Amino acid sequence: MNLRGRHLLTLLDYSPAEIDYLLDLAADLKEKKKERIFTEYHKGKNIVLIFEKTSTRTRCAFEVAAHDLGISTTYLDPAASQIGHKENIADTARVLSSMYDGIEYRGYGQEIVEELALYSGVPVWNGLTNEFHPTQMLADLLTIRESFGTLKGIKVTYLGDARYNTGNSLMVACAKMGMHFTVCTAGKYFPKDDLVAQCREIAAETGGSITLTEDVAVSVVGAQVISTDVWVSMGESAEVWSERIADLRPYQVNRTVMEQADKEAIFMHCLPAFHDNKTAVGREVYERYGISELEVTDEVFESAQSVVFREAENRMHTIKAVLAATL
Ligand code: CP
Ligand code: NVA
Repeated sequence: MNLRGRHLLTLLDYSPAEIDYLLDLAADLKEKKKERIFTEYHKGKNIVLIFEKTSTRTRCAFEVAAHDLGISTTYLDPAASQIGHKENIADTARVLSSMYDGIEYRGYGQEIVEELALYSGVPVWNGLTNEFHPTQMLADLLTIRESFGTLKGIKVTYLGDARYNTGNSLMVACAKMGMHFTVCTAGKYFPKDDLVAQCREIAAETGGSITLTEDVAVSVVGAQVISTDVWVSMGESAEVWSERIADLRPYQVNRTVMEQADKEAIFMHCLPAFHDNKTAVGREVYERYGISELEVTDEVFESAQSVVFREAENRMHTIKAVLAATL
């Protein structure tokens, strides 16, 4: 398998075999890291990390993964570069790819990372756009595979806002890997029809399936993975909170949901999660709307079924695999 020079913009661009290869490589790199075996395969290379939105996991995962591979990093935060304000994407791509061996981009529209890739002479990795979050999906797939020993045939139910990056990407990932993906949310939060249709075509070939429903009890029966994400994403206006809470509260992951799922079910969340009011946003929502647990209850988040911190750790191992394979 040779992925050298490839961009990672969405998993739609990768075959199931290529995804499997990245997961195997990530598992191997994870093992090596635990055994403290050095993996400086790309010593002397440089990559740039562009973040137009904030991050904890993705930035740290790229930085640690790069360091472990012998790669140096430059971090550009939303305020520290000319991108978009004084310099267009095509010019930025050509400048950065003359100095760096790879470019990570986190920001807004998918078309921005696509344009960056079009003009870049080096691999571009999508670190989250409004539409897709492919590196998160590699971590999610590795986590699921570790839990169940396989991906094919695994039943995943996603509750909440399914029309944004995480919901879209999980649907793509499950379709690619022959998994059964159910979206359960209010109809206006379903992923777009054309993406659903595209994923159904992929699933028809891989033996997976895509189901959309508004019925929580139906959606979770037999589910081995219960997943969710925040109800308001980065870049969205704070004004949408009241509507989101009203619409999505019935789709909160709570004890009842977990009890109705498969008894071996795991809970997943890309994080950060609003499961208490120990954050500024959590407190603000609590003061305005009187609820302190949003997309997931604290009880589920902290339960033995929750694998969210292993999932977060796997961000680093899977991003390392992407860097190792594409550089
Ligand atoms: N899951 C995820 O992408 O986290 P960060 O926003 O902290 O990078
Ligand atoms: N949907 C979330 C994911 C964060 C990792 C957001 O875009 O804010």
